[in-house]
Amino acid sequence: MSQEQTERPPRDNSQAAEAGRETQRGPFQAGERVLLVDDKGRRKTLRLRPGQAQEWHVGHLEHDRLIGQPEGTVLTTPQGRAVLVLRQTLADFVQSMARASQIIYPKDLAAILMDADIYPGARAFESGVGSGALTLALLRGVGPTGNVVSYEVREDMLRRARENIRDFLGAWPENLALHQRDAYEGIQEAEVDRVVLDLPEPWRMVEHAAAALRSGGIFLAYLPTVLQVHHLTQALMDSGQFHLAETHEVLVRPWHVGSRSVRPDHRMVAHTGFITTARRGAGAKGTHFPRERGVKE
Ligand SMILES: C[S@@+](CC[C@H](N)C(=O)[O-])C[C@H]1O[C@@H](n2cnc3c(N)ncnc32)[C@H](O)[C@@H]1O
Repeated sequence: MSQEQTERPPRDNSQAAEAGRETQRGPFQAGERVLLVDDKGRRKTLRLRPGQAQEWHVGHLEHDRLIGQPEGTVLTTPQGRAVLVLRQTLADFVQSMARASQIIYPKDLAAILMDADIYPGARAFESGVGSGALTLALLRGVGPTGNVVSYEVREDMLRRARENIRDFLGAWPENLALHQRDAYEGIQEAEVDRVVLDLPEPWRMVEHAAAALRSGGIFLAYLPTVLQVHHLTQALMDSGQFHLAETHEVLVRPWHVGSRSVRPDHRMVAHTGFITTARRGAGAKGTHFPRERGVKE
């Protein structure tokens, strides 16, 4: 039996006007989350509240001095230290947000949006939710005309994800439905455009995804080990309902670019996860059509 608990959006969406997507340009407004950067590159985020103040190592910061100022403002503290103030990007937020699980990092989130071809207006299914990093990226991709339905089995994860999503957007997004459900028991939605999974055993989702996806829809799974990738790919090929199964990983090598030296950073993240995708065919089961790299159209 699956536990079921559905998150319903609050009717009052006034916080969105205060700090949601509609206020991402123009002067800073009360209720917005901003990023502070000191002259050494140290960072801190805060939500602007009229009449409130923040103590930081650079000194005393009154929120009222920021409300109404343009993004990119440099504030000087009474202690004479300069602070750059910007809006936080989604990548900044994801890396600093409170976590209840391993999250998907921005380099992989960016690739997932392209690999799963998440487009404005798409209907996307996601599981599990974890801390909500992927959920936020999917919401961005589908835009206000699309929707995201997400299943997460653990209540504590859902709680954390809800808080993170509200924290970043300033209000609950009306086009997101979070359900406390075991995804391995099935997907209740039909004719979805995309199925995006960050689950330990996505091969258990192949039949469910085939039933939920529209023909031509895209299946994507994010996995940390090659053994899981192999198991999943075999299941996709054996199902007879998916084609063009392929896997890749994203390696990012950051560079130090200074006035006297330009070189790769000494350290880089060697491994995060693999991205496996496949396309849902139409109708009856059949042969798997492979994806061959280097073959021209
Ligand atoms: C690695 S975390 C997901 C992280 C998330 N993508 C993010 O970026 O924050 C994997 C999640 O899958 C959930 N999960 C595991 N098995 C599940 C199942 N059968 N149904 C739904 N959720 C499941 C776990 O509870 C966990 O929260």
